[in-house]
Amino acid sequence: MASVGLVAEIAAGLCAAQANVSPKYFYDAAGSALFERITRLPEYYLTRTEAKIIETHGEEMARQIGPGATVIELGAGNCEKARALCAMIRPRCFVAIDISADFLHQAVDGLRDAFPSLDVRPVVADLLGEIVLPGDVPSARRLVFYPGSSIGNFDPEVALTLLGRMRGLLGNDGALLIGVDLVKDEAVLEAAYNDAAGVTAAFNLNVLQHLNRLLGADFDLTQWQHRAFFNRQKSRIEMHLEALHETRVAWPNGFRNFRRGEHIHTENSYKYRIDDFAGLLGRAGFSNSLRWTDPEQWFAIFLARP
Ligand code: TRP
Repeated sequence: MASVGLVAEIAAGLCAAQANVSPKYFYDAAGSALFERITRLPEYYLTRTEAKIIETHGEEMARQIGPGATVIELGAGNCEKARALCAMIRPRCFVAIDISADFLHQAVDGLRDAFPSLDVRPVVADLLGEIVLPGDVPSARRLVFYPGSSIGNFDPEVALTLLGRMRGLLGNDGALLIGVDLVKDEAVLEAAYNDAAGVTAAFNLNVLQHLNRLLGADFDLTQWQHRAFFNRQKSRIEMHLEALHETRVAWPNGFRNFRRGEHIHTENSYKYRIDDFAGLLGRAGFSNSLRWTDPEQWFAIFLARP
């Protein structure tokens, strides 16, 4: 079970007029494993497109960054992207920050095997909370690496705050390397979050299983279905869990009745236009940025400097 504070926070979300749950609860062990499968789905172009951009433009990125940097990856996950990046830019220290402790430690072991001379540091942290780095992490020449368009999972105002904090981690000689998914054809966007194999649906539904454990709730997963669609006005994919029938969910200190069709909002994934994202970087205190995209302009990687 989660702490009293967390339980109250989760319960408040479930009882809100528009029920919601924080996306951070996606990432228990099962959720992290499902997410890895999402990144390999044929419809999910993001991971592969980003990797291709790094492959194509990595040499130039490495030239810009130079060897011996301290890479700080946010939401490191399985550290797969870190491998490609480290092979190219040859940093001296790699700080892997993720919210899922078990998953992180396993991934970090793999990275140490691959790069025996790299100083690898796992840090378990929620990006929305305070990020405390071990005291002996070098403060010069830091590169914050934030791939996967994870920045798109925050509302733009929160994204701005986070970018500002990344700016703060960097000092004046650092840089931010960040991957951002771009606005594109709605059918392509929606397919990426409604894969035929149902992995994204399983990932979304898994949050209910996680809440059952954290909260002692009794969500019946057969009563809920995954829904994801593009909200053009807000330029975001929205993910919801929709009640298939009238259903009651109870936990030790509360309950909620859901009508058929009522839904729990679980996540957003904002899609940016290149210039809009460049503008956001500017507002967060980055004064110059380089950018690379794939030929179809589906995805962009920015290298932003203070
Ligand atoms: N940031 C990525 C995206 O929005 C990865 C991601 C986060 C994701 N949560 C997700 C993908 C939920 C699918 C479903 O695409």
